[in-house]
Amino acid sequence: MKNKHIKHNMPSVTVSNAELLENASLKIDAITDNIIRIHTVPDTQNYNDVSFALDDSLEVTGVFNVSQYNSIITATTDSVILKIKKTFEIDIYNKDGYLLCSDCEPASQEMDEYTQAEIEQVKQEGHMPDTIADDIKYKVTKRIIGDEAFYGLGDKTGFLNKRGYEYIMWNSDNPEPHVENATFRALYKSIPFLIVHRQDCTYGIFLDNTYKSYFDLGVSDAGSYSFAVTGGEMNYYFIYGKNIKEVIKGYTSLTGRSPLPQLWTLGYHQSRWSYMSEKEVLDIANNFENYNVPCDAIHLDIDYMDKFKVFTSDKERFPDLKQLSSQLEEHGIKLVTIIDPGVKAEDGYNVYDEGIEDKHFAKAQDGTVYHNTVWPGDAVFPDFTSASTRLWWGNKTKYLTDNGISGIWNDMNEPSGFSGQFPDDVVFPGDGVSRFHKEIHNVYGHLMSQATYNGLKKNSLKRPFVITRACYSGSQKYATVWTGDNQSIWAHLKLAIPQLLNLGLSGMPLAGVDIGGFGSNTTPELLSRWIEACCFSPLFRNHSAKLTRRQEPWAFDEATLSIYRKYVKLHYKFIPYLYDLCYEESLTGLPILRPLVMEYENDKNVINCNDEYLVGSSILVAPVTDQGAITRSVYLPKGIWVDYNSGKRIKGGRYILYKAPLDICPIFIKGGSILPVYPDIPNLSPQNTQKLIVEFYPSDDTANFNNRANNSCYYMHYQDNGTDFKYQAGEYNLYKFSFSSNRPNGLKAELTKNGYKNKYTNISAVIK
Ligand code: GLC
Repeated sequence: MKNKHIKHNMPSVTVSNAELLENASLKIDAITDNIIRIHTVPDTQNYNDVSFALDDSLEVTGVFNVSQYNSIITATTDSVILKIKKTFEIDIYNKDGYLLCSDCEPASQEMDEYTQAEIEQVKQEGHMPDTIADDIKYKVTKRIIGDEAFYGLGDKTGFLNKRGYEYIMWNSDNPEPHVENATFRALYKSIPFLIVHRQDCTYGIFLDNTYKSYFDLGVSDAGSYSFAVTGGEMNYYFIYGKNIKEVIKGYTSLTGRSPLPQLWTLGYHQSRWSYMSEKEVLDIANNFENYNVPCDAIHLDIDYMDKFKVFTSDKERFPDLKQLSSQLEEHGIKLVTIIDPGVKAEDGYNVYDEGIEDKHFAKAQDGTVYHNTVWPGDAVFPDFTSASTRLWWGNKTKYLTDNGISGIWNDMNEPSGFSGQFPDDVVFPGDGVSRFHKEIHNVYGHLMSQATYNGLKKNSLKRPFVITRACYSGSQKYATVWTGDNQSIWAHLKLAIPQLLNLGLSGMPLAGVDIGGFGSNTTPELLSRWIEACCFSPLFRNHSAKLTRRQEPWAFDEATLSIYRKYVKLHYKFIPYLYDLCYEESLTGLPILRPLVMEYENDKNVINCNDEYLVGSSILVAPVTDQGAITRSVYLPKGIWVDYNSGKRIKGGRYILYKAPLDICPIFIKGGSILPVYPDIPNLSPQNTQKLIVEFYPSDDTANFNNRANNSCYYMHYQDNGTDFKYQAGEYNLYKFSFSSNRPNGLKAELTKNGYKNKYTNISAVIK
């Protein structure tokens, strides 16, 4: 039979097979030439094809050329070729006919059979039997073709490369220590985006389905991986890219990018559950000044509220929040307050009364308001799927902005409840489209962040600072994230690196972990290594739980304080570089902290690199994360690296053994880099950010200056007011920095975009 052209230039292909898919068909859309959406479409009339994740600005620009030969449909874009079988199996090739991705039958699994008595016996000693997902509605299985590594999936425990692991997307607040362990298949966040990378081939899979879903990355069958959903439609995007960066750009073109944060949010944050009074907060602020440790924010945890009622404050402990905020402003410090979704069920409390009156709360099956227990005791929960509820909640942030609060930290929004998980059938009436908890659970935190972001934007007119614990794909448009309740243990210091890197790879660049560890008691050594390991973290916050040992920088001894100070100052020094990376990210979605594999894809030594990271492409950090260790092996990729601690040039493409006593974090600058830095400053108040130093790290310290200064290498630096949205109207500057021997200090600084009038009062240069 000859090739039969069924239609040219169409964006979609639909395949039906009543034997395999009853009352539904499979639709394949070319979103762009590189991004293909593959999804089931039910035959029902009232099918509501909405996504909570996708960016509003998404345009469908892809075009398919379609032909059919026997029972195989071929759909081609300018970039990929899909071969679609009637069995719904799809093979995807690139334009050169190279197989990228191929569906296959799930391998049949030989399961051991156990008697109930055997299971009970194992449980007696506290072991839980491995649960087998029996609630699957649709599953897609794809071949592992070669040496695939898997990255992404948000905040999940384990290593950078997820091959050989199974995960569950179901936002979970589990107080046990988060370890690389079968019981930790789910954590607070659900970001169902996976990067599949093998030698010479990279693509992404974004499973846009909010029900509980499963990822099995070569566990039940070493030759395949799968993802499965428990409700709704199978709905995933195949994202082709020439490399990991292209795939991240593709994913964030779908789900959005983090907008520029306020500059101060990149500074140091001090938190504790909880600072209990105005006096305690002021003492903390004074200590930062007295001990000469820079600080930009103090966080108020739940005890600032009146009986844990959201959008209130305790009049005894915090009689005048507004005055406290302005006193802190004098120290250059901002206040951030926690807000949980649970609203205390108490007549006469305005948030409860209004919510009942205007039907803002989720409902039980019998139509009454659903209750669970959280910090305030008996509580009810806003239905954030409703636009009017989001608006109402967002407006409530005015109580905080009026009191001078600069940011909101959203917690417990998995949603979490002390009386047990919300039943699957709790109803979220929405705006006419009623949904059950099992569909909404994974986007509850996402929608809460959206409500908070929009409310803060309206009430403060600044770039909103929202931190969230739970989220879904696309939450990066609204919030910074932290990884929840870690513990003061070395295993969690180690975990911080792959967690932050995978969050970044999953489109979530503004992230941090609780420095020092949240639960249990930290030690001076652990705290010191933690501040070193996280010294470039975009969210740079020390936070600890009630009943644990204090872990502010001065809580131990002079030596610990001095190490802590050194690394907080190092963080502040490089904030102009971090802010440039935020600017780059806002345009491209590329993360700030990057695994080595992102910049050195074809270097096999970095595929599984869990204990080093890059900041942008110029700084490599290899922290010490072992108790008692004072040396470590460091892998330096090809090129020349400048040892930040000694200034020595080191040839890469090899492992080195590096001496790192407690006050030393191994940091390397890529030879040839130009980096903008601040002088020593106490915080990011505008008067402290008017001077810039441009550092040049030539590859070779032996050659004379003429050889070192290299005009072909330049650096673009971004500057704006760091506060509001005026940059969107062009109020920003771009500087092009390069080095040449015939300039004073070697620096050539050109203003290539002149839109912001408060230029630096001084730009100086240092050749390292
Ligand atoms: C949760 C949060 C933690 C917070 C505590 C009290 O455990 O994860 O950060 O301190 O609640 O609000």
